Amino acid sequence: MSDTAEHATGYLLGHAALEQRRLLIQASYVRPWTARLLRRAGLTEGMSVLDVGSGLGDVAFIAAEIVGPGGRVVGVEREPAAVDTARRRAASAAFTDIVSFTNADLAEFDPVGSGAAWRPFDALVGRFVLQYLPDPAGTLRRLAGFVRPGGIVVMHDMDVSNPDVSVPRCALWNDCYALLGALFRAHGIAPDFGRHLTRVFLDAGLPWPDVDSGAMTGGKPGSTVFTWLGSAVQAVEPLLRQAGIALPDGLVVDDQLVATLERAVQESRSMVLGNTHYGAWTRLNDGPHRSERP
Ligand SMILES: C[S@@+](CC[C@H](N)C(=O)[O-])C[C@H]1O[C@@H](n2cnc3c(N)ncnc32)[C@H](O)[C@@H]1O
Repeated sequence: MSDTAEHATGYLLGHAALEQRRLLIQASYVRPWTARLLRRAGLTEGMSVLDVGSGLGDVAFIAAEIVGPGGRVVGVEREPAAVDTARRRAASAAFTDIVSFTNADLAEFDPVGSGAAWRPFDALVGRFVLQYLPDPAGTLRRLAGFVRPGGIVVMHDMDVSNPDVSVPRCALWNDCYALLGALFRAHGIAPDFGRHLTRVFLDAGLPWPDVDSGAMTGGKPGSTVFTWLGSAVQAVEPLLRQAGIALPDGLVVDDQLVATLERAVQESRSMVLGNTHYGAWTRLNDGPHRSERP
């Protein structure tokens, strides 16, 4: 994956209101999948968890429900506005005793230097973040160094590269879906990043991970797939224009897009796919903690 402007300057999708809305919509539909993944990976009551690229806090909140009052969760996020929102949401969900958020870049985040209270985490988690980093394996290796021997690393990413996402074919659905992959490619980001997770874990020097996947699927009137794709295209429209990616002929990107997609899918009587999720998890080897090694 090449280094690109957004790798140097910020998160590709930014943090404008439409992107924050998209993140919340995405977080609510993918929540059960992430919760199952974290439990399956071994997260359990009382653990300490580091959530990287914590965004608006959704993964940290799932982790907090799992670890409970005896555990703790630290979210790390580079964007100050997202950290503010996450802190507000933690307060209104009464999670502040368990969850805290730190404003830092993952390339520089260093809990070891934060003082005498430092203890290695039991688990490192992250969702939809590695693919936006210039060096996913290098960063994962570094972050895994903050996890205790025998601790857990679990990453959740996705694939939006599938060219065949409706049966019978719904042209509008396929064309809108293809915009997401085109945008990632235009910025040097692999749209099928989720499928690279095993390699990224191994390149990071971690033990071979278990993996699981699941595709968001729908089509029935009212299905959340419509909101997912409609809100995503709305959020990225300015980036598509900047990247010179043409919108499908006649497509109007506005608040009606979700309804337009739903009508098109009803007309073609299709089953449609959203993104495919990939989860990878592993347990670190027992032995001296990395930060204690010479
Ligand atoms: C797609 S969002 C996912 C947010 C959250 N993990 C979730 O699943 O709801 C990716 C987040 O990673 C953050 N991010 C990207 N690169 C980062 C970096 N180098 N350091 C810290 N945060 C980063 C972005 O600002 C953004 O909030």
